[in-house]
Amino acid sequence: MRAPFEGLLMGSGSHSGSHSEWTGHVPVMADEVATLLGGAPEGLIVDATVGGGGHSERVLEGDPSRRLVGLDRDPVAIAAARARLVRFGDRADLVLANFSNLARVLTSRGSAAVAGVLVDLGVSSHQFDVPERGFSYRTDARLDMRMDPTAARSAWDVVNATTSAELVRILQRGGEDRFASRIAGAIVRSRPLDTTSELSEAVVGAIPAAARRGGGHPAKRSFQAIRIEVNGELDALRAVLDQAAALLVPGGRLVVLSYHSGEDRIVKSFMLRQETGGCTCPPDLPCACGAEPLLRRLARSALRPSAAETALNRRAASARLRAAARLGTVPTKPDTSSRSDLP
Ligand SMILES: C[S@@+](CC[C@H](N)C(=O)[O-])C[C@H]1O[C@@H](n2cnc3c(N)ncnc32)[C@H](O)[C@@H]1O
Repeated sequence: MRAPFEGLLMGSGSHSGSHSEWTGHVPVMADEVATLLGGAPEGLIVDATVGGGGHSERVLEGDPSRRLVGLDRDPVAIAAARARLVRFGDRADLVLANFSNLARVLTSRGSAAVAGVLVDLGVSSHQFDVPERGFSYRTDARLDMRMDPTAARSAWDVVNATTSAELVRILQRGGEDRFASRIAGAIVRSRPLDTTSELSEAVVGAIPAAARRGGGHPAKRSFQAIRIEVNGELDALRAVLDQAAALLVPGGRLVVLSYHSGEDRIVKSFMLRQETGGCTCPPDLPCACGAEPLLRRLARSALRPSAAETALNRRAASARLRAAARLGTVPTKPDTSSRSDLP
């Protein structure tokens, strides 16, 4: 059985890569994130996906009165963030934990409310680029894809020990792949599949030649879907959104960066639902159903990275940023925003 705080007590699990290798991850939409969190009331900021600490560094640099709790389920990320944020001393508190345990992590640190929560979803460049982590179709390695290297189930288990019907569901849910049935069939026929190259070959072989042209590597969607399943990413996202909204002080800000439509749909509908409070009344009549809105969206549609950022950082191309503020009376605070077009 796993500890209640996944990974909180670990630190000696075997894992590949060292924090000194955590060099290539450039924080996405860092100016926008810093501005949105800079507009939060006084109080603690949570970086739920601290990674190499790029966004956290911007937050801490931007306001010397800020304290930050940074979470990551990957011990290599925590070590990298610790090295990067060491100069901020006890203003940065880094915790090895799954963000689905956000409320419990904060309770254990004596914090019942926070001024802002950042969730920068998906994998870091480090996780993708270190071959032994087994995330990438670009390099050959044993199938793994676990962000938390002590997690019980790896990509090898998902690929080799799930039924064909379950594989179809996984590929559709995380990759929205129209060839999910063909790909699942090819995977099952080719088992056992031990490596990223073997999986990639099975997937590519199942996709009709015409559909393989354009749109990036043909195995990209399947690898993404399997990674999402291995790490329970969509369930963890739903959990962290609920907890973050409940923990925010009035005016507190929730900022979420997602990288594929499945994630973004969850974030978008969550923020919309919190804005209406789930009201079921006709739109032209005053609310009589007792709905209680919790959040106000800070922008109606997702913000996208600038062309200049995308040109410099390929990973930013698919980013969508959504932000919302907790309703209620907001204490006044000097404006630290640097971008005038962001609320
Ligand atoms: C895109 S990276 C974050 C990069 C970071 N914003 C920076 O500036 O370096 C995403 C990070 O979130 C972590 N992560 C993903 N899902 C998580 C979860 N459920 N709980 C905790 N960390 C998670 C990954 O391990 C990875 O380090």
